[in-house]
This record gives sequence, structure tokens and C-alpha cells, in this order.
Amino acid sequence: MNPAATARAKKKSTQGSASAGTGKRGRRASETQSDLFGSDASLAPLDEPTAAKAGTRAAGPRKSKSAGGRSGADVREEGPTTAGPPTTAGPPTTAGSPTRAGSPTAAKHPRRRRAGGKGHGTEDLFGSSTEEAESPSASHVADAGSGSAGGDPYDSGSDGRLEVATDAPAGNGGGRRASKPRARVDAGTMAKKQREISVSEFFSKNRHLLGFDNPAKALLTSIKEAVDNSLDACEEANILPELVVEIEQKAEDRFRISIQDNGPGIVKAQVPRIFGQLLYGSKFHRLRQSRGQQGIGISAAGMYGQLTTGKPLVITSRIKKGKPAHQFEIQIDTKKNAPTVIADREVEWAGVDHGTRVELELEATYRKGPRSVDAYLEQTALANPHVRLLYAPPKGESVVYERAARELPVEPKEIQPHPHGVELGVLIKMLQETRTRNVKAFLSAEFSRVSPKVASEILTAAGIKENARAATVAKNDAEKLFRAIGKAKIMAPPTNCLSPIGEEMLLASLKHTVPLAAFYTANTRSPSVYRGNPFQVEVALAFGGNLPGDEPMQLYRFANRVPLMYQQGACATNKAVIDTAWRNYNVQQSRGSTPIGPIVLLVHIASVWVPFTSESKEAIAHYPEILKEIKLAVQDCGRKLSMFIRRGLRERDAERKRSYIEKYIPHIGIALREILALGDKQEQKIVETLKDTLEKSRKL
Ligand SMILES: Nc1ncnc2c1ncn2[C@@H]1O[C@H](COP(=O)(O)OP(=O)(O)OP(=O)(O)O)[C@@H](O)[C@H]1O
Ligand SMILES: [Mg+2]
Repeated sequence: MNPAATARAKKKSTQGSASAGTGKRGRRASETQSDLFGSDASLAPLDEPTAAKAGTRAAGPRKSKSAGGRSGADVREEGPTTAGPPTTAGPPTTAGSPTRAGSPTAAKHPRRRRAGGKGHGTEDLFGSSTEEAESPSASHVADAGSGSAGGDPYDSGSDGRLEVATDAPAGNGGGRRASKPRARVDAGTMAKKQREISVSEFFSKNRHLLGFDNPAKALLTSIKEAVDNSLDACEEANILPELVVEIEQKAEDRFRISIQDNGPGIVKAQVPRIFGQLLYGSKFHRLRQSRGQQGIGISAAGMYGQLTTGKPLVITSRIKKGKPAHQFEIQIDTKKNAPTVIADREVEWAGVDHGTRVELELEATYRKGPRSVDAYLEQTALANPHVRLLYAPPKGESVVYERAARELPVEPKEIQPHPHGVELGVLIKMLQETRTRNVKAFLSAEFSRVSPKVASEILTAAGIKENARAATVAKNDAEKLFRAIGKAKIMAPPTNCLSPIGEEMLLASLKHTVPLAAFYTANTRSPSVYRGNPFQVEVALAFGGNLPGDEPMQLYRFANRVPLMYQQGACATNKAVIDTAWRNYNVQQSRGSTPIGPIVLLVHIASVWVPFTSESKEAIAHYPEILKEIKLAVQDCGRKLSMFIRRGLRERDAERKRSYIEKYIPHIGIALREILALGDKQEQKIVETLKDTLEKSRKL
């Protein structure tokens, strides 16, 4: 374990004895867990008081439990017996730790379960169809069958028709010999196979795009999606977030996770679509900094749980004190991308005035280490000092991350799109859909920073009348308008849509996480813009102390306060860091690689739309504007670090010289006394004069 991690671990364990309210985060929670939300999760269906009879866990307030033990927090049925799909057929599992960020070692791991007796093309709820994509053997078969490896046995004739090459040489790479000519397939036959693909079917085949490519990552991704949602919801509702994250191990490769928040809750009618439909959410269409943005996260986690265990998502939510709490069991119909409500009931939820609890059972692996759930939650606490977080891992003691700040971050405001970020197609669509009466009103109402004066200037430059109808412009003059917008001088977009962590908070958090470094610095850049989207970069750096000096620096990446745990190599943050000339700052670095030294670097990018490289939201795309801003912030910290290192070097040098003076001048005094037959006083005076002169000349 590296010293930074050791330091954090120590901090955590020493904080175990700290009392609540000390402001320290990460203390042991065995004594406080049960009181976090009162009897935090005493859920009991109103109409099912004798839950024990049904083989479920007992309802009622959580009892104090031994370290790491679990409470009888809720009452739930062990999954639907009729509505849910059978649980025998599991998905192919690519179990195993990735050797590098984002490169799972799937091939090394035997498939745990196969969908019995089905061909590899079988498309079923349990993901057997994904075997095609994930199984090395499947792709091998495909290659051999295609004949491409060994030459196509069919040749294109000069008249364009296919002729059978009956004399394909044996041993030509394993190509099959064609015994009879292949019948032509006409477009009509092909048309019968062409049909719509639902977004859920697509993502259940391509679950790796959503961060579910191996069981360890699946656990992290599911928790991350729910935690991100909880924090977004609390902040949007102006509630200081209190979260409880629990992981319970049900079998070797099966876990039940629950994430509970004290947020605004979710109105009953919305619950099914939020949790049982991909691409449904409140954040995609707005321009405002938030952790979620796509409308996929939590339903994808539910779908993964359903695919791997057959169990539904269980959601409990209350929107107001005095209102009943509702509990839903929801599955996703992947063919239709629509929710299936398995159960919907009112429940008792003692001690919880408002909030949401999401429970999910999934095939997963729990691991410690740099990309673990533990590390993710620790970094979440680092970037969100206003959050109180209780974490009960499957083994070991629970941890509480206490608040380091008692105030919510500045509320980010929703803004209109900036005209310089709009693409022609989008502009046309906006012109077609606007309700404004003419094109001038359209420009000033639907974009930020376009005053009526600027709108007039744009329209004059485009040669379009101010009172032209927007729909007419969409048809005839959209391109002219687009070009005029591109050339117009327009103020940069407003930046109150962003809520950076701030230098002070970054430093406090970093000092808390890496407490024994010798030097800390931070830099929050002014907001900037890429493709019309405002963004802001922040960097904090810790150096020296007990950090390891001979290892690559540790990089913590964050986007909208969310730790990014995978795909570091593909991230703009990483590129900007390795492209920085660290040698200028007295830090060792080989060309194009991560600098070596006792450094922890934290990079945060806040934006109304973080340009992730994929739906799993793990790495930031290489937009030149973003790379530049990260580099500038890193360079600022690098310069301050270099000053610190140089000052240290100078001090060490001065110390060395001083020690020479102390060591050798008295000997010179003795020699002079002997040569010049001086008395003690004269000798002493000469020694003092020499010391003085040397110290002055050496500026010591
Ligand atoms: N704990 C919660 N409390 C209140 N609302 C929630 C909660 N969880 C989810 N929601 C609502 O459900 C919507 C869908 O959540 P989901 O995670 O699927 O997408 P998202 O957060 O909008 O984007 P992303 O896919 O990037 O996470 C959210 O936009 C939010 O409106
Ligand atoms: Mg989300």
C-alpha cells in the first residue's frame, strides 16, 4: 500500500474514536450507524405485518449491530416468483480484475454459467446473446466460418455474379470447402429481418459501454449511479445530503446493495419510468452542472441486476413528512424499454421524513484497492465536503465520513445554450420548434448572451429580416443565419451554471486525505468554454512528506465532483498531466509518461455537460480547450511546487555551507595562531571575522 493510501487508512482508523461533530471524516460507525436516519430503514409493508412468515427479514427499527453486521433494515420479498424471469440462466461473466484501467482480462476467466442448450445467437433476457461479443471462442468460430482468414471460396466473376471456387486449395488457412453454390438472398428476405432495436436491448448487449464489463466494476458502477443521483437530488432540493450505502454479500458472487438518501423523494407516478426505462431523466435537456446527465444511470444498474440475478429493483420513497412512503419493485422490459411494476405498496418507514432508498441485487465481486467502492466513496467524500456518508461494506467495520463543510455548494443555475456552441442541425430544429413570434425574438429568447441589439446585428449580417418567421428561416436561410452567428461577437456564456469546489475547500479536503505531505497548493481557473458549454478546471497538489518518492504520481480525477475510477489512460486529465513539462518544476519525468515523485494530484472539471468518452462516464474527451485549461492549472501548481522544491534545495545548500564554516574555520584560526603567534582573543576575533565575511558573501 502506498503511503498516501496508508495515511488515509490510518486517518480513518484513528478517527474511529472521534466523536460526532468533530468535523473529522471517515470515523468508525458501529456506534452511530443506527441513529443516522433514526431507525434508518425500518421499512415494513403496511399490509404485510407478518413478514417473517413469508421468509423475509424482520421489520422494525434497526438494532445496534456488531461491526460490519447488518440490520434487519427492511422487509422485502425475495423477488417475484411469477413476474420475474427465471434466475437459473446467468450472464456470461468476465470475472476478474482489469489489468489496466478499462481492460478487463475477460479471456482468462472461464464463463461461470451458460444459457443451457442455446446457440450463441440466442437473444434472451439473461444476456446469452452478449456471449457473441464477449466470448473469445465465439469470435474464433465466426472467423473460421467467414472464410476471410483463409481466402474466400467465392470469387466475384467478371460479370459481377458470384461464382463458386470449387477448387479452393486445402489448408488455405482453414477455409471451408463449398459443396454447393450459396443461394442468393433477395432484399425482400433481408427486409424481413430488419427491425427496430430498443435502447435497452442495445445496452444489455453492450453493457460494457455503461460500465458493467466485469463483476467488480459492476458493483462500483451500480453504487456510483445511485450515489450520484442521491447527491444531485439533495443538492437540487437544497438539502444537506446524508447518505447510507450498504453492501451485503448474499453468495460468493452475489451482493445486495442499498443506497438511501434524505433527498426530496420521487413522486409515485415517476418511479416506474425513472427506474425501469433507459434514457429517462431530468438532467439531459438542461444546461446546469450536475453529476448525472444522460438519463441512463440508475435504470442501467437495475437492468444489470435483473440480467444477472433476475431480481427487481426495490425503490422506497417518501416526498414529505406525513405522506405515506411508497415501495416499488420494478423490472425493465428490455424489448420495449419500458418498466414492469412487479409490486407497488405503501410501507412504514420510521424515522425518515423524506428521501429515497434504492435496493438492488446483482452478480458482482467486492474488492479493495484503488478502483474499489471503498476508494470511490472516500474520494466522493473528498470532493463533496458537505456530505455526510455512512458506509457499511460487506466485511469489516462501517465507516462514517463526517461533513467537513456545513453549507451546500453554491447552487448552479440553469442557462440557455450559447449561440457559438450550437450546430447547424440543432439550430434548424430550434427554429422549427420555437414558440417565439419571429427570428429576432427567437435569438434573444432561446440563447444566452444575445440581447436584442446583438440579435439585430446577426440578422443584418445574415441579410434576414428581423420579423421573418422562425420556421421560414429554418427552411430557407438557416445556413446564412448559422454563419452570421459564427462571425458575431458575443459575450462568453454566463458561468453561474457552474459550482466549483474552490481552492480553500480543495486544500482542506486534500490535507484531510493526504495528511502528512510537506507541501500543498491548489488552483481554481476562471471558467472557460468548449463548444459553447461553460466549464471550469481546478487542480490541487500535495507533495513530499510520507508520499513515495520513486513511484508515478497519484492522479485523482473528478468530473462534476464525481471520482472517475477507470479509463485514466483515455482521459483528457491524464493527457494534460503527462504533456506538462514537469522537469521545469524539478520533478522527474520521462517524455510522454506520468511524472515520478512524491505527488498526489487532484484534477476536477466542472461543466454543464462533461464530454465523456462513453456512456459509462469514466474518461473525459480530449477537447483542446479542456486540455489547455487543465494544463494551465497544473502549470500553476507546478510553479508553486517548483518554488517550494527550490527553496528546500537552497536551504539544504545553505545548511551544508554553514556546516562547512562551522567545521573548518576554527581550524584556520588555530593555524593562523600558530603561524602568526596570536593570542586567544586575536584568534577568536579572526575566526569570527572570517565566519561573518563568509556568511555574508554566501548570503547565509
Ligand atoms: N435518489 C433520487 N432522488 C430523486 N430523484 C432521483 C433519484 N434518483 C434518480 N432520480 C431522478 O431520476 C432521473 C433518472 O436518473 P438516472 O440516474 O437514470 O439518470 P440521470 O441521473 O439523469 O443521468 P445519468 O444517466 O448520467 O446518471 C434523474 O434525472 C432524477 O430526476
Ligand atoms: Mg444518474
